[in-house]
This record gives sequence, structure tokens and C-alpha cells, in this order.
Amino acid sequence: MFRKIKRKLYKNFLKDRFLITDIEGDSLEYEIFDSSIKRLKDPIGSSFEIGVRRGMGSKKIIDAYRKYHSHLNDHIHIGLDPYGELPYNFSEDNKSNTNHDYTNLMKREMIINFSKKYKEFNFVNLDTTEFFQRFKDGYPIYSKVKKIINRFEIVHFDGLHDNENVNLEIDYFLNHLSNQTIFILDDIETFDFDMVKKKLNKNNFKLLESGNRKASFEYLG
Ligand SMILES: C[S@@+](CC[C@H](N)C(=O)[O-])C[C@H]1O[C@@H](n2cnc3c(N)ncnc32)[C@H](O)[C@@H]1O
Repeated sequence: MFRKIKRKLYKNFLKDRFLITDIEGDSLEYEIFDSSIKRLKDPIGSSFEIGVRRGMGSKKIIDAYRKYHSHLNDHIHIGLDPYGELPYNFSEDNKSNTNHDYTNLMKREMIINFSKKYKEFNFVNLDTTEFFQRFKDGYPIYSKVKKIINRFEIVHFDGLHDNENVNLEIDYFLNHLSNQTIFILDDIETFDFDMVKKKLNKNNFKLLESGNRKASFEYLG
């Protein structure tokens, strides 16, 4: 008991003094990233997460690429998140909520954690509306040459969870498909999942896995 308290105090000291934290998650069923990325037959090495928070989704995605597609040494993963304590839509019925911890301090801690071990991670500090307007034709990455990333094979949707925003997000990525693309949706009980299912089926996606929190859909071109 005393040891536990000491450990917690030490952790808080490291956090407050040096911004030292861990990559953490607030969701469940993270193993869906592993099974989705394992399925990629001929990966092009580009993935995207909407809503990074403390990074667990992005970490799991990058770790699975390293595990199953270690030959790819130029995997680009984009993590999009505005942070900044903005009003947040937790669900269709709970919009503009300010009771959360998506702060700019969290952003700084997240950047430190990814910079240490994850060269694949490219952080974009924007919200979806800005990103979709400004990068309709893809996102530039600089590594010896300029490369416009305009096709994605893994997309994790975990930003705003109301119907309108989930729809907007799906529309953007439907325009940026690869030959094999897997969409993973988080918190599927918070928006109209049937509507999303119908929309994706119409666009030649098939449901792969569906749990209590997450679901995955696959497109084969
Ligand atoms: C549920 S958390 C993400 C959790 C993370 N994916 C994980 O696996 O641990 C939601 C995140 O979405 C971010 N967010 C809020 N509005 C957003 C927007 N318009 N576009 C993208 N991300 C947004 C929040 O700042 C927050 O970090």
C-alpha cells in the first residue's frame, strides 16, 4: 500500500517536472488493430488515426506494422488531433462537452512519447474540418524527397463521435482508398452505426469484426 502511494507520487513528480508519461489508451478491443494490419496482403505503408489523445491507438497500429510488415521501412502513420480543450462531441446525444482532458499539456506529453521511439508517427495538430479542407488531395511528408500521401490502407476513426462528423470523416477517406483499405471505427454505440454500415456496404466495404466498442470494415479494390 505504502509502496503503491510512493510509486504514484514518483510518477506524478516525473510528469509535473519533466513531462514524463506513458502512452496510454481510454478504449477497449485494441487487438482489432493487430488483426486488421495482419490481413494487409501487399501494404503500401500508410495509416491514419483521427483523435490521438495519449496515443494508444497510434502505438498499436505502428507496433502491428512492425510485427507483420517489417520489410516496410518507410511506413507513414499520421495522427490528427487539435487538443486545446475544445468542446467535444462524445456522441450524437452528448455534443459540445467541455468535461474532458484533451489539453495542450497532453499534446506536449504525447509528442515527447512518440518522438522517443516512433519515427513512423507524424503528428498533425489540426481538427478534421481544417484538415479535410486544406488537404483534399493528400498530405505532404518530407524525407529526402517530398511525398504526397493520398491513399490510406488503415484508418482509425476516433475523433468526434456524432453522426455528422463521422459521415464527413468517412467521405474524406472514401476518396483516398488503397487497393485494400480497412476502416476501424471506435465507440460504435455513440453514433448511428447502422447508417455507417449501410454507407460502407454501398461503397463495397464488408464488415470484418464487430465488438462492443470497435468495428472494422474492409474494402478490396
Ligand atoms: C477518445 S480520444 C482518442 C483516443 C485514442 N484514439 C486512443 O486510442 O487512446 C478523442 C480524441 O479526439 C480529439 N479530437 C477532438 N476533436 C477532434 C476533431 N475535430 N478532429 C480530430 N480529433 C479530434 C480529442 O482531442 C481527443 O484527443
